[in-house]
Amino acid sequence: MSINHVMIIGAGTMGNGIAHIFAQNGYRVTIVDVDEGRIEAGIQTISANMDRQVNKGILKAKQKTEAMGRIHKSTDLKSSVPECDLIIEAATENFGVKADLFRTLDASAKKNAILATNTSSISITRLAGVTERPDKVIGMHFFNPVPVMKLVEIVRGIDTSNKTYKTIKELSEALGKTPVEVNDSAGFVSNRVLMPMINEAIFCLHEGVATPENIDSVMKLGMAHPMGPLALADFIGLDVCLFIMEVLQNDLGDDKYRPCPLLRRMVDAGHLGRKTGRGFYDYSK
Ligand code: 3HC
Repeated sequence: MSINHVMIIGAGTMGNGIAHIFAQNGYRVTIVDVDEGRIEAGIQTISANMDRQVNKGILKAKQKTEAMGRIHKSTDLKSSVPECDLIIEAATENFGVKADLFRTLDASAKKNAILATNTSSISITRLAGVTERPDKVIGMHFFNPVPVMKLVEIVRGIDTSNKTYKTIKELSEALGKTPVEVNDSAGFVSNRVLMPMINEAIFCLHEGVATPENIDSVMKLGMAHPMGPLALADFIGLDVCLFIMEVLQNDLGDDKYRPCPLLRRMVDAGHLGRKTGRGFYDYSK
């Protein structure tokens, strides 16, 4: 099926990054969020990130103006849904919130519209189960910063059809991304591998094995990671890291996925990384 108009639910870091690449590649985009201020902030972030691309010569100023003109906003989910061919949910990582959204989307979207989620670890099959169109529900997992990272992890639920998969695969390629197909399992491949590594780095800090700077240096210089695991945890958000570890532990039932107590304590204290100005590093300046 042809995709022309895409709705992105959630104007946060992932939502605005996803809206950015669709608008840049010629798609009409509607960003929906309950909070008008958050939509404005998301659109300003897109504009600033496109300026970065203009300064680097990746985009021409005219292309930026055209792309920004393709972005529309709404705080009213139901009125905008019927026009869209694809809806990508990038709301908060909470099954109840996502399930309510999927029920509403299923009731108001076109019959052939695809319902995708950018969830980092929630089961696609379980979300599809609250809809009457499980064949058209799929995971489209992007990576931060979305305009830069090449991967889209495409997650097939148990009933996702081949037609839906093919549409999303071709669409990801049209966005200049490299799609990789995985099956529905806790954390998929990306976060099943990444989060235990981050959690183990936090255990190293917790047990006094090394300082944050030295833990990160080992992984940057020894393993050629662009960021050390503690800096990356701050970039992703410590609340998100904790949530994903809990999903891995609960769904896979293995204590090797237990979140480090230090991670819990930092989340309890509200030190969530870059977004709160403090995580393993200080961002207040
Ligand atoms: N929009 C557009 N361009 C951006 C951007 C953005 N938001 N952020 C960075 N860039 C561009 C810069 O302009 C620069 O472009 P250039 O190569 O043409 O000069 C390039 O990206 C590199 O940026 P910087 O020079 O500012 O900084 P770095 O070289 O330090 O790179 C980084 C920054 C790309 C974030 C790099 O450190 C990196 O790759 N880090 C790892 C990121 C990662 O692992 N992400 C995945 C997180 S996990 C996830 O998202 C899944 C979830 O489920 C948890």
